[in-house]
Amino acid sequence: MKAYDVAVVGATGLVGRKMTQVLEEHNFPVKTLTPLASKRSVGKEITFKGEKIKVKELTPEGFKGIEIALFSAGATVSKEFAPIAAKAGTVVIDNSSAWRMDPEIPLVVPEVNREDIFKHHGIIANPNCSTIQMVVVLKPLHDRYRIKRVVVSTYQSVTGAGQKGVDQLDEELGKKQGDTHKFPHRIAFNCLPHIDVFREDGYTKEEFKMIFETTKIMGDNSIKVSPTCVRVPVFGGHSESVNLQFEKPYDLKDVLALLKKSPGIIVEDDPANNVYPMPINAYDKDETFVGRLRRDDTVPNGLNMWIVSDNIRKGAATNAVQIAEELIKGRD
Ligand SMILES: NC(=O)c1ccc[n+]([C@@H]2O[C@H](COP(=O)([O-])OP(=O)(O)OC[C@H]3O[C@@H](n4cnc5c(N)ncnc54)[C@H](OP(=O)(O)O)[C@@H]3O)[C@@H](O)[C@H]2O)c1
Repeated sequence: MKAYDVAVVGATGLVGRKMTQVLEEHNFPVKTLTPLASKRSVGKEITFKGEKIKVKELTPEGFKGIEIALFSAGATVSKEFAPIAAKAGTVVIDNSSAWRMDPEIPLVVPEVNREDIFKHHGIIANPNCSTIQMVVVLKPLHDRYRIKRVVVSTYQSVTGAGQKGVDQLDEELGKKQGDTHKFPHRIAFNCLPHIDVFREDGYTKEEFKMIFETTKIMGDNSIKVSPTCVRVPVFGGHSESVNLQFEKPYDLKDVLALLKKSPGIIVEDDPANNVYPMPINAYDKDETFVGRLRRDDTVPNGLNMWIVSDNIRKGAATNAVQIAEELIKGRD
């Protein structure tokens, strides 16, 4: 089997470190791994398959010979360096928000729109974490019952804000010394209905991403999405309360059976025995967990559910590695 020269840009970050871990766990055919980060990290080491590899500074020249680069160093870095890498012949799988809205750039969740991978011109965008876990569950339901409207409220972990988000909660809980201010308010024992910046229409950019990205990935502009995104003091894993309205009538047993056989989903739905998805159980898993399925009889064909996934894995690193895996497999 061919092995690839792979770079991870942002290799010292929460997502970058997880990308390296997932590449190893999935046994992705890596010939060489090049960890890149800012000047601050030069000399640091990351471990891949038992080998210590020195982190290099990200520079425009650094992509020579790199076949696949997983980017996770923020939108500013991606805007500048992804086109340079693509020009050098590297396929970029970009985790930031830099390219997701660009109609020329595929935005991919392999369980939903695998074929879009092959429309790339050097850059493939990885969606936002809260969108990924939701569309994994929406896709099979939309194919069968046609979703008209989604009302979603998120409960997003501090890891979604990177290492500084974790540091602030650690410090506020007295687990660590420091004075990090990643969030606009205290996050310990609190909930902030504020992720990313506010837009003029009163929504946050995170909420807007859920609206735009859902329709782009699902390839259907008719799906209406009404989101509220909330940061909660959880260390890993995003949760979502999702209310769907279908065009077609459904039977709850059929919905459960359909979700159970759909890729990437684990149904945890046994409330009588206190079984439902929780972030603590989703930690470091690749799958998306769904439960608390129940009819919403306040609207025709309404359904409520609770969706949980590890935002650093399926919401970021795993999805990016899966895109790379499908890319090298090629078209069906
Ligand atoms: N956390 C999530 O749930 C999640 C999910 C999906 C997507 N994302 C996206 O993934 C990206 C990274 O998130 P994260 O959570 O891993 O953040 P993080 O823990 O803060 O890590 C940021 C990484 O980017 C590197 N970096 C920053 N500025 C750089 C520069 N000028 N040049 C080169 N490298 C630079 C950092 O290197 P140094 O260590 O050298 O500073 C570090 O490796 C963001 O775009 C984020 O929106 C995050």
